[in-house]
Amino acid sequence: MNATRGKDWKGYPDLFLPKYVSMFPKGYVIDLGACTGSKGDNAIFLAEHGFEVEAFDRNTKLINELQEYAKGNNLTVRAIRNELTTLTIIPKRYSLALLTWSLMYIRKGERAGLVKMATKGLIPGGYIYLSAFSTEDPGFLICKDKLDEIEERTYFVPTRKMPVHFFDLDEMKELVDGLEIVAVKEGIEKDPNPKDDHFHGVVELLAKVPDK
Ligand SMILES: C[S@@+](CC[C@H](N)C(=O)[O-])C[C@H]1O[C@@H](n2cnc3c(N)ncnc32)[C@H](O)[C@@H]1O
Repeated sequence: MNATRGKDWKGYPDLFLPKYVSMFPKGYVIDLGACTGSKGDNAIFLAEHGFEVEAFDRNTKLINELQEYAKGNNLTVRAIRNELTTLTIIPKRYSLALLTWSLMYIRKGERAGLVKMATKGLIPGGYIYLSAFSTEDPGFLICKDKLDEIEERTYFVPTRKMPVHFFDLDEMKELVDGLEIVAVKEGIEKDPNPKDDHFHGVVELLAKVPDK
């Protein structure tokens, strides 16, 4: 297997997905900011496990690649190019909503509303999975040192032409207030992308809406 990113990259889903996949009610998944440097690894994993995935991302090239990969592998993925901040999410449709490694690019004024709309999009007993860089990320110190703070712990990154926000766990928990927290992960981990040897500070959370 060629281990560099690109067409041959064999992706990996985020950790809570393989661990809890059998607990998610079968049905639709909404993946918000679905694409990675190769394809939407979470979207692909969930489609391979029998879910009907609706994957949204603003990156046209990556959305097209994801759609092509899904089609070529007979996977039920609808890859849709869209801005997360202008999206309307259908209520009570999805078994699982993902905002993995995309939430940190959403500005404070839109973050809570987006998570709330995603939560309202869940069926009873559905799950929401959030993940983002944390204040333990080495990038946090670099941003603090070199860039202007546009909101608390949010910096505009000129090379990416977008803001990045560094989370703490309490703040992430607040976004899912009222839901059952199923799993939380907080710490430092090595990025498995072999092209670039680096670590991230991360916070991840899986929460469940009540069954009724
Ligand atoms: C780091 S990737 C995360 C991919 C995937 N969710 C995962 O867990 O591997 C972030 C993705 O979010 C998308 N994204 C960030 N902000 C967005 C926005 N406002 N609207 C749509 N997509 C956005 C980017 O285009 C990028 O493909």
